[in-house]
Amino acid sequence: MTTAKHDRRTFLAMSAGLVGLGLGFPARAQTRAPDADVLVSRGGAIEVDLEARFGPTRLAGRSARLFSYGGRVPGPRIEVRPGDEVTLRLSNNLPEPTNLHFHGLHVPPTGNADNIFLEIPEGERLTYRFKIPENHPAGTFWYHPHLHGLVAKQVFLGMAGLFVVRGELDEVPEVAAAREQFAVLKDFEVAGGRVPPPSPMEFVRGREGSLVTVNGEVEPEWSLEQGGLLRLRLLNASTARFYRLKLDDHPLYLIATDGGALEEPYELDELLLAPGERAEVLVRGDRKPGRYTLWSLPYNRGNGGMGMGGGMMGGARGDTRPRPLAHLVYRGKRKTVLPLPERTGRVPELGAPVRRRRFVLGHSMRPGRGMVFTINGQVFNPSRIDTRVRLGTVEEWEVANMGVLDHPFHLHTNPFQIVSRGGRPERLRAWKDTVLVPVNRSVRFRVRFEDFAGNAVYHCHILEHEDLGMMGIVRFEEEG
Ligand code: C2O
Ligand code: CU
Ligand code: CU
Repeated sequence: MTTAKHDRRTFLAMSAGLVGLGLGFPARAQTRAPDADVLVSRGGAIEVDLEARFGPTRLAGRSARLFSYGGRVPGPRIEVRPGDEVTLRLSNNLPEPTNLHFHGLHVPPTGNADNIFLEIPEGERLTYRFKIPENHPAGTFWYHPHLHGLVAKQVFLGMAGLFVVRGELDEVPEVAAAREQFAVLKDFEVAGGRVPPPSPMEFVRGREGSLVTVNGEVEPEWSLEQGGLLRLRLLNASTARFYRLKLDDHPLYLIATDGGALEEPYELDELLLAPGERAEVLVRGDRKPGRYTLWSLPYNRGNGGMGMGGGMMGGARGDTRPRPLAHLVYRGKRKTVLPLPERTGRVPELGAPVRRRRFVLGHSMRPGRGMVFTINGQVFNPSRIDTRVRLGTVEEWEVANMGVLDHPFHLHTNPFQIVSRGGRPERLRAWKDTVLVPVNRSVRFRVRFEDFAGNAVYHCHILEHEDLGMMGIVRFEEEG
């Protein structure tokens, strides 16, 4: 028990199994996949112990003092199936309060489920409990802290992990036969083994770190079989950095978005992932064997008001040159070529909305507070219900960005379908929970509010903007 690796295994074994057994939980509820960074449900249940901690953490082959779940960045991947009961105990050993959000899951936003209004003080623990609905789509979801005012800091310092629901998409034969690779995209800033605090201007525009990692590593190498398929499951876990992805010589075949499967693969030359967004793409091993790079291309998130009277936020141009993220290397050869799937799922149309609403994203200077970010002119207030909606109804929301920086808009609990962007009808019918609203543009989407009453939030997923006020509360109300 002397090596770090051994310690880690011991911790996981304890948290994922032995402690549970000792306390008399049935063994079937406990699981640990061969890969120690993955916790898989079994027999309809999963119990997870997560420790939020601050301390030396392995990052890109070195050590840095980070915030993490269990001393690893990203945190362990949790895998469940529809119908599973989830029990997750979070021990807060950070020097500050925290909590958890299950981004994209359709579970209650209340009680000890996906309730972002809970707060776990330093040194205390809380047990989250919820059931994944029997009809929950398969998809790539994730968990991260959501305590207003501290979200950007805690995520930037390393707190995020994948939460995967396995289901129908995983059973599509071509998808099942593909090699699966998860990719958590996350930037850091480390100097002298620690994360320096951001400057006020950096925070206002959304902090981007210069160390860009994939699963906590720099430029990992993945293998691809000639004639085979690679299923890349991507998450943008950065607080503010965008990833405009392009793979040398290979198109990307999009098969799933935030909320799960598309109806059929959709060919893309590039894929833009804003903070909070996920995507699954297939890559065909049909090129000359070799080494191909997955790039993150430059993307301008807005000029921050430059040329509009001073540029109080500074620009947010990010990288000015392509940045290599990972490399794909052909290894081996399949006897028979694996085709793309013809169908990957069903995305039913949502139907006509009973109500339309408009949300305007902006910012302003407030005396004593500096720059704040607003929705319909207001900063977040935890005791104000901004929007009341009826369960069982479909609404159409228009989100308009009147600001000087791009804002990815995110809604909790219920996924939506984009209807149009910048006035142009959306071609692809897909489930989303986060959508980019570029400067001076508006996006319209439809959403059906279902199953769960209570308060949840919508906000910009540039987490600094959320902490600076760009969040509102929606109340899901019972009919009648
Ligand atoms: Cu990923 Cu409300 O957040
Ligand atoms: Cu969320
Ligand atoms: Cu924003």
